Formats: sequence, C-alpha cells, structure tokens
Amino acid sequence: MEDFFLTNKPYLTAIDKASVEAEAPSNIALVKYWGKKPNQIPANPSVSFTLSNAKTRTRIDFEKCKSQPQASFEVYFEGKRNQAFKPKIAQFFERIQKHLPLLSQYHLDIFTENTFPHSSGIASSASGMAALSLCLCDFERRLTQTDPDVEFWKKVSFLARLGSGSACRSLKGPVVLWGANQADDNASDLYGTLPSFPIHQIFQDFQDTILLIDKGEKKVSSSVGHGLMHAHPFANQRFAQAHQHLHQIKEAFSAGNIEDFIRIVESEALSLHAMMMTSEPYFLLMKPETLKVIEKIWLFRAQTNIPVCFTLDAGANVHVLYPNQVAEKVREFIQSSLLMHCENNQFIDDFIGEGAKIIS
Ligand code: PMV
Repeated sequence: MEDFFLTNKPYLTAIDKASVEAEAPSNIALVKYWGKKPNQIPANPSVSFTLSNAKTRTRIDFEKCKSQPQASFEVYFEGKRNQAFKPKIAQFFERIQKHLPLLSQYHLDIFTENTFPHSSGIASSASGMAALSLCLCDFERRLTQTDPDVEFWKKVSFLARLGSGSACRSLKGPVVLWGANQADDNASDLYGTLPSFPIHQIFQDFQDTILLIDKGEKKVSSSVGHGLMHAHPFANQRFAQAHQHLHQIKEAFSAGNIEDFIRIVESEALSLHAMMMTSEPYFLLMKPETLKVIEKIWLFRAQTNIPVCFTLDAGANVHVLYPNQVAEKVREFIQSSLLMHCENNQFIDDFIGEGAKIIS
C-alpha cells in the first residue's frame, strides 16, 4: 500500500536553480487521531476543520548539486538559521526520499515562518509539514512538467503525513478526513480526503477562537503520547469509539444537527485527555484554567442556548467553536469571561478555511 506513489514520473526538464513558496494552515481535529501503526498509519480515523489564520509560510531555494549524491539542506526560521528543526526535517527527508528523487539531487535552503506566535502552544508541525510538502511537490511538478491535479494534491498530503500525521489534513478544507473507515469509503489511511457526504450550511463558516491558556513547551510530546496507546488498557475501546463518533458526526454534518455535533466534539476532546490520564505512565496536559474555561462554556450554553462548544488539542489551550451567526454574542462572552484565564489574555481568532496554496 505504501508503494502507492513509487511510480515516480521522469524529470523532463533540467532546472539548476529555482525558488518555490507555499503556505498551509493548521487544523483542529473534531474526531481525534491518537495512536498509530508503523509508517504513520493512524490507529483510528479522524476528521478536522481546516483553519485560516494560524498558518506556516515556507519558501525553498533549490540549487542543483554539481557532484552526486550530495543532498543537503539548511533551515531558516523567521529569518535566522535554525539547528533545532534540522533533525526532524532530516528524518522526514529520509522517509520520503524514495517518493521524491529530487531530494538527492539538490541543495535546499528552507525559509519558514508562522503567523501565530512562536511557543504559543499551537503545534506548528501540521502547518509546517504541509507547507514544506507542498513546496517540494510543486518543484517536482515543474521538473515533471505536470499540472497540479487531484493526484498531485494526494501526493502532497501523503508526504505531509510522513512528516507529521495530522499534517495530511492541512492541505484542503474546510473539512478533511484521514483514516479508512466505514462512514466514508473514499477516506484513506495514506492521505487526507474531502468528505463525500454533504456539509450543512451551518458548519460552513465556523469560527475557532483559540484561547492560549499555557504557552509553555508540552511536557509530553504527541509522538510519545501516540506510542503510549500501544500498551494502553483502553486502546481498543477508544479506537472503536472514534469509528462510532465518525459515523455520528457524518450524520450531524449532513443534517446540520449542531447539538449532536457539540456532544461528539466535546466527548472526543475529553476522551483524548482521558487516554493521556490513563496511559502507563499517566500524564496530564490540561491545566486548572482549562477546566475553568470548559465549565464556563457549559454554563453559558445552558443559560443562553447559544451553540458554542470547546475542543482540545494535545495541550492546555482551548479551541472555542461556534457558527458565525452567533459570533458577536460569543465574542462578548469570551472577552468578559474567558480571556482572564489565558496567559497574558492572549488568544488567536480563527475560522475554517480552504487549505494550503502555492504562492509563486
Ligand atoms: O500529528 P501529530 O502526531 O502531532 O498528532 C496530532 C494529535 C492530535 O492533535 C492530538 C489529534 C489530531 O487528530 O490532530
């Protein structure tokens, strides 16, 4: 199955030097991916909203190596040479080398920056790996003289997945599935796909206000968390629950059933953190302020009937999700009651979007 993209197209043009640029947004999972099999195959299917404002912009300058093989690369983050990102990118390049022969033929200077504050607790691996993969595939497209068709976007998502699992959901939007499942035959373990079921109007302009509760470095990385699912006492029940939630969220998306949507999304967030709390060894990524915010959202929803809910990533920050039609009231509530729980009152205003794009 992994050999799916091994039939590489021949490079028809000789390009000595070129520059490509792309940007990709972050995404927020509604049904969560937590646990994986070898080769970045998810242990359960997931579905996410693609975001708009929280994104990574990357440019790669390619220069053909004079003698072969002599592949090399440098990374510049926000204008400064960066050593810290190199091992992860080197590992990524090793994984994708067989799918992208150009990597052994060129020197790459990678210039990358995020629109969201560095160390905001917002994972940049999804948007970062998606933007990087899009640059690489766009350059390959020039070498093979092909157009960016459906297969092109599949390959970008396929490569992004090998960099960071959830990155494969950052190429398209506004809703992306990843992981084979019975709710959508089109979905794949290898790359993200757009749902083949309808998404009701009410979900088409969803807002996501990301409350930055704790901007510190996470104590346990996602990779360690995924790994702990191997010997997890509740792993099988959790994977079954994700499949069930995917069926249910498909119905909610199609019917415009926002009550069901809220129930599934909040349950998923709490299940994700329950898995962390019941891993061996156990760990906790929520903070007291996370719980205070959740309780306030529940109270506000009960008192006003306004359809606003929360979800969590692998961290303490809270994503507040709501349709645009109630945005004014929810933003007032966030300002007056939730920002006090954020580090330095910080938050990111975001909304769902269409995915990554090539800039040049
Ligand atoms: O893509 P990774 O390995 O950083 O894992 C992401 C895991 C979650 O963000 C917690 C859930 C998800 O589906 O995005």
